[in-house]
Parts: sequence; structure tokens; C-alpha cells
Amino acid sequence: MRLLGIETSCDETAAAIVERDGASGPASGHGGGHANGHAGHGTILSNIVRSQLDEHAPSGGVVPELAARAHVSHLDHIIARASAEAGVPLGDLDGIAATAGPGLIGGVLVGLTTAKALAAALGKPLIAVNHLEAHALTARLTDGLRFPYLLLLVSGGHSQFVLVRGVGDYQRWGTTIDDALGEAFDKVAKLLDLGVPGGPEVELRARLGDPKRFRFPRPLLKEDRLDFSFSGLKTAVRLAAEAIAPLTKEDVADICAGFQLAVTDIVTHRATSALGRFRAELPTVAPVLVVAGGVAANQAIGAGLRQVAAETGARLVVPPIALCTDNGAMVAWAGAERLALGETDGLDFSAKARWPLDSADMGRRHG
Ligand code: KG4
Ligand code: ZN
Repeated sequence: MRLLGIETSCDETAAAIVERDGASGPASGHGGGHANGHAGHGTILSNIVRSQLDEHAPSGGVVPELAARAHVSHLDHIIARASAEAGVPLGDLDGIAATAGPGLIGGVLVGLTTAKALAAALGKPLIAVNHLEAHALTARLTDGLRFPYLLLLVSGGHSQFVLVRGVGDYQRWGTTIDDALGEAFDKVAKLLDLGVPGGPEVELRARLGDPKRFRFPRPLLKEDRLDFSFSGLKTAVRLAAEAIAPLTKEDVADICAGFQLAVTDIVTHRATSALGRFRAELPTVAPVLVVAGGVAANQAIGAGLRQVAAETGARLVVPPIALCTDNGAMVAWAGAERLALGETDGLDFSAKARWPLDSADMGRRHG
């Protein structure tokens, strides 16, 4: 089956066509029967992403109204390009998938409404995809993973551990109680007057800095929970910067290095605990940790997670970075996984600004 995937929930306008073949549907019919289901084999036929960085750069953050307007201006021709590059006319598709939330509601509406119009005009099934589910299932497209596995999603909007038990079957083990990790990188970059997006800028400076000069706090680390908190750390960075202003290049590098070491410590500590819980709750399953989201591009955090995997005997899976950040292929793939289970949505499906992965809605098709 071939699906179009549309992604417009934040500041990327994206469309892709993905083909899925191989084992389809649940292995057996009884409760959670798809829990070990084969991923099937996926091929990305096209994957077009247009970033809105330039539109939002002057304001130093994503402006929802500008984002929605840019999606309106560009989505049609991005879908046309995805179709042309894949060599698949829209009429030959087996389904239309679009992110239906969570995200900036104006943008989500643009993508979902376009998908509904295409589905209605072409007479194809619509699959309304949860953006987090798309991130969660990407490793099955790239690495053919079987369920269950542990997902660490670290992006500009989310920082969470999720046990991925099956399509539509997720259990959130921890989340951030304030800022997302990518957001913390972006805010630190902003207060140091670095460019956007902040993560890569901070990482670049951190490489040249002394991570020991500033000792920033590691919030919540003493607590026995899998949640994150980054806002106190961000404040500590601001206070340190203010105390020694004006900052030299070396000061900036040292602050970035100290911040990056603190978040690496936090993430690796939490990942170790999460893998411990995985082993305790699923003693017969070889533990797999999947990392997704833009922060997965950070090499210091990646190295820390590789070490955690080595120490705990877990397998670490990091999809190619272009598939870790927002893209249409992950949406098409999530749509294909649902369609393979016979799950489609009505044209009256409502866009959702909030849509937690482990909400009742996620399992709605499984009763
Ligand atoms: O997944 P993503 O592309 O978009 C969403 O937020 O959904 O993630 C973007 C986030 C931004 O906050 C960006 O600063 C962060 O990922 N990021 C990084 C790096 N590259 C991107 N953070 C740290 N280090 C990086 N190399
Ligand atoms: Zn995302």
C-alpha cells in the first residue's frame, strides 16, 4: 500500500509518499494481539520538507499565525512535488494520512483539511495521525523494530519516555513538567544571543568550551521518577550569564558546554532508570531504546545514550536525523500501520491542539 503523509503541526510544511508491504495486520485477534506484529517493510518514495525558519527568524520563535499562513501557501505544491518525485499520481494512493494533533492548531487544521479534501475528492481512506505516534513508530519504518520498545522523544515541543506496546497502545512513563528539552536549548541560545534554531548553535559553541567551569543544577535527579524539568536549569544559565556580562566568546562557549553537560547527565540518568523499569516490567524482552525528535541530533547526548545502552545491555536505535525531526514520511508510515490494521477515520475527525499519546482516544479503535 502507498500512502501520502502530510505534516503541518509546527514549523515544517512536509509531505511524503511511503510504500508498505509485507506482513499486514495483527498476528492474532485477541487482546493486544498485534503486540508483536511485524513492522512490514517500508520504503520512502519521496519526502519533501520545507522549513519555515526564515519566516520565524525575526521573532526568535515560531509565530502560530505566520506558521499557519505559510502552510497554506506551500502545502499544495509540496504535495505535488511529493507525488512527482515518488512517481505516484495521487489517484494511485491507497490512503491519505495527516497529522491531526497535537500541535499549533492553525497549522494542524491546514494539513488535516487538505487531507480531508484529497480523501473526499479521490475517494481514498483518511487516517488522522497523532504526531507523537508518528515519531513513536518511525523506528519500525527505518529499522523494522518489533513491539514493545522504549521511546525517548526529545524535540522542541516534547520530552517524554513512552513504552510503545503496539499501534495505538502507548504508556507514557515520564514527561517534562515545564520546558521541553529542545525548548531549553532554544531559550539558552536566545539568552546568549545565538541564532535559531538554538540546539545546533549551542552544540557548536559547547564543543569549544570547558564544561566544568560552570556547574549547573540537575533538577529532579534525586527523585525516583522519569519526569524532566528544565526551567530551573535555564534560569541558572541566565543568572550565570548575567553575573559575568558582557560575555566573551569563551564565556559563551563555557556556558554552552556546562549546560550541555548538565542536560546530558539528566537525560542519561533518566534513560538508565527507564531501561531499569523496562527490564523489571518486561523481563522476557530484550530492551530497546529508540530516540526521536530534533534533539536526537545532539552528538553529546547521543554519545551519552550510547554509553547507557552499552552499560545496561540495551539496543539503542536512532533513526536518521531527517526522520527524527518533523517530516511527512513518519506520518505516512503511521497511517500505513493503521490502515494495515483496517483503521481509518471519518471526514468529521477534529484537529486537536492537545492529544496525549496514552489518552483514551489513542486506543479508540481497539476498544
Ligand atoms: O523535532 P523537531 O525538529 O521539531 C519539533 O520540535 O517538533 O525538534 C526541534 C528542536 C529544536 O528545539 C532544536 O533546537 C532542537 O530540536 N535541536 C537540537 C539540535 N538540533 C536540533 N538540540 C540540541 N542539539 C542539536 N544538535
Ligand atoms: Zn515532532
